[in-house]
Amino acid sequence: MSPQPDTAGAAGRADPEQVRTGLSGDLTDLTDLTDLTDQVIASFAGASSPRYREIMQTLVRHLHAFAREVQLTNAEWEHGIDVLTRAGQLTDDRRQEFILLSDVLGLSMLTVGINAVASAGATESTVLGPFFVADAPEVPAGGYLAGEAKGQPCHVSGTIRGTDGMPVAGARIEVWQADADGCYDVQYPGGRTAGRGQLRAGQAGEYRFWSVRPAPYPIPQDGPAGDLLAAAGRGPMRPAHLHVKVQAAGYRTLVTHMFVAGDPYLDTDAVFGVKDSLIAEFAEQPPGPGPEGRHLDGPWTSVTFDIMLARQPEEP
Ligand code: BEZ
Ligand code: FE
Repeated sequence: MSPQPDTAGAAGRADPEQVRTGLSGDLTDLTDLTDLTDQVIASFAGASSPRYREIMQTLVRHLHAFAREVQLTNAEWEHGIDVLTRAGQLTDDRRQEFILLSDVLGLSMLTVGINAVASAGATESTVLGPFFVADAPEVPAGGYLAGEAKGQPCHVSGTIRGTDGMPVAGARIEVWQADADGCYDVQYPGGRTAGRGQLRAGQAGEYRFWSVRPAPYPIPQDGPAGDLLAAAGRGPMRPAHLHVKVQAAGYRTLVTHMFVAGDPYLDTDAVFGVKDSLIAEFAEQPPGPGPEGRHLDGPWTSVTFDIMLARQPEEP
């Protein structure tokens, strides 16, 4: 007896108790494992949200096919549960191990790619990563957002436009980055904020700020994502980058990076996040006068990175 997954209409509706539990009353009815899969799929037939129903039924189909294909052992099932349990135990408002797992499995970049179609012609997106913190400190145009983060001074500037070429005045830009030692502020004890901030683009869509030159760094390796990399013989390094999130009314939100040209890890990013269009020249500059009226006693870096945003479709 095998309830059909997509026969939720009134006529062929399965026994309500069976739909609730996903199982027929008599387990001996499960003459083969396909029957079990069909019953679990059918258990979502009554979901009130069609999208939820689609996602869960498809998830169950693929999850069961995966277990069947690898002939999952009990010990392997227990190991999988342990991985998820440890990810949950490590996750709090300063550490997100589930995002890290999604990143090292390529799921984050796959999702970015699937959704990129809607933003054709705009600056490409990449992973959010686990170190974004909402409500970063406000920085004035041309201001310094590194705080106590260590590193060579780096001036960042550019223009934000729509894909139609129109400047996006007042766009909100959120920036976060690792310091010269490859660490984010949230990875240090003490809770200080450094190497992150938010600012507004000017009337012509222009933006500029001072920070420090980002360095390559290993992603956290003390949890299940690190175990996965080690088991696979994969490296943990991400190439140096600045994170940028740009929001403006009427435009799709952009989450992206500026990668440092010439970084040795551009081809082996642990989270598959590099796109050629996001690699920018971080040009070495000699000591002396710099932008925003600053005088630099040592060498510094400058980068220009223009950003294009896709229009948000009008609400019907
Ligand atoms: C990051 O760039 O901050 C990041 C992204 C994915 C995993 C770990 C870190
Ligand atoms: Fe990062």
